[in-house]
Amino acid sequence: DQAAPRISVIGTGYLGATHAAAMAELGFDVIGVDTDPYKVAELTEGRAPFFEPGLPELIRSNVAAGRLRFTTDLAEAVAASDVHFICVGTPQQSGSFAANLSYVEAATRGIAAALTHDALIVGKSTVPVGTGARLRAIVAEAAPAGVDAELVWNPEFLREGKAVDDTLRPDRLVFGGTSERSEALLRRVYATPIADGTPVLIADLPTAELVKVSANAFLATKISFINAIAEVCDAAGADVALLADALGHDTRIGRQFLNAGLGFGGGCLPKDIRALMHRSGELGAHAAVGLLQQVDEINMGRRQRVIDLALQALGGSVLNRRIGVLGAAFKPHTDDVRDSPALNVAAALHLRGAQVVVYDPQARGTAQRLFPTLGYAESKEEALAGADLTVVLTEWDEFTGADPAALRELASGGTVIDARNCLDATAWNAAGWTVLGMGRVPASAALVPDALPLH
Ligand code: UDX
Repeated sequence: DQAAPRISVIGTGYLGATHAAAMAELGFDVIGVDTDPYKVAELTEGRAPFFEPGLPELIRSNVAAGRLRFTTDLAEAVAASDVHFICVGTPQQSGSFAANLSYVEAATRGIAAALTHDALIVGKSTVPVGTGARLRAIVAEAAPAGVDAELVWNPEFLREGKAVDDTLRPDRLVFGGTSERSEALLRRVYATPIADGTPVLIADLPTAELVKVSANAFLATKISFINAIAEVCDAAGADVALLADALGHDTRIGRQFLNAGLGFGGGCLPKDIRALMHRSGELGAHAAVGLLQQVDEINMGRRQRVIDLALQALGGSVLNRRIGVLGAAFKPHTDDVRDSPALNVAAALHLRGAQVVVYDPQARGTAQRLFPTLGYAESKEEALAGADLTVVLTEWDEFTGADPAALRELASGGTVIDARNCLDATAWNAAGWTVLGMGRVPASAALVPDALPLH
């Protein structure tokens, strides 16, 4: 059978919408399936339901070329395809750290029950180790007699803001639990990136499931490591940013993910380390539980650190003080505010009685829906006008590239908390600001503690 495999993608969130568009871009006929008719209508019109650079263009050109379409009809999509990618969400369960697998299970059961011919089901969602084996049992039970359905795992490592590129040019491809036949089929699906040199790792099902969460746990650990060292820097009068540069020159360490500051947020890292913590506990792997608990705790402590700095900057209370907040997204180049440290801090300051005015270049809409009681501004200038304190919580270019002198004229108070260590402190100091960084002594008030007091 040399006809190109036809592809269905179940779930059109960040992962699924990007994967569907990327597979179509590689030349395959692709159907994206979602239960939400609004999402399907938007995608059909070439609009992504979230901000992702390059994705709307990719969707529009492939829909126009007739290779990509979207539907709410799972059975129709399954009947018209040979390879089915499961891309539905695995959110954190309410009241627990465990992942909610109900969407993955429902998608698997739905695909299996709708099969009309032999097919390959490929899990891409981030799942706790052991899920694939459970899903195989569901497929065996739900698939019609006489249809050969295989389930394998192919984790996804895309970053928001770089999702298209990460999908078309991945660092590596992991195929978990494949047979000779399914490996060959996946190699055809990914022929272009493989020809471009992307390495392929063939693994068993549990290893493939674990690669994804371990990668995210390692990244989270790296961030919490440097944030723990930032605390030492604060206490000792050292500069964590310089220190990270020096560490990063050791190629065994590397400079990436060593930016100290407000810590990690978003739809993946926090929930993935908690799900791994939970699953490790179930498996009796207690060292992983303890490590990940510390990583999570250090990370959440960063948010408190910014609140403490704000209290200190305003003389012990933020009550009725105006605070200009720059940034709401969990990182730049996205409008995503899921588990955003920025919004978390803004909401905590609001809760303590501050008059918080938030500006974000992309995430104002999503932020406003989630935290309607905070104040919002149309521009950074409006957010800072008359502010007693300025807080930078997301490192957008618009903030790092801003003219500090012009902003200083607008603000009432001259202190800025640089919670992402992203400002040019020398330039901001020169413009009359006092910059409070995270793990960096302000250049204007370098205070070296007396390590060996005289007696
Ligand atoms: C992450 C992983 O990078 C990706 O491989 C996986 O598939 C999904 O989760 P993403 O959530 O899009 O991707 O964001 P990422 O760029 O990894 O940033 C995560 C968080 O860590 C952000 O809040 C960011 O601000 C923070 N971060 C990152 C730091 O605090 N310091 C750093 O040095 C790097």
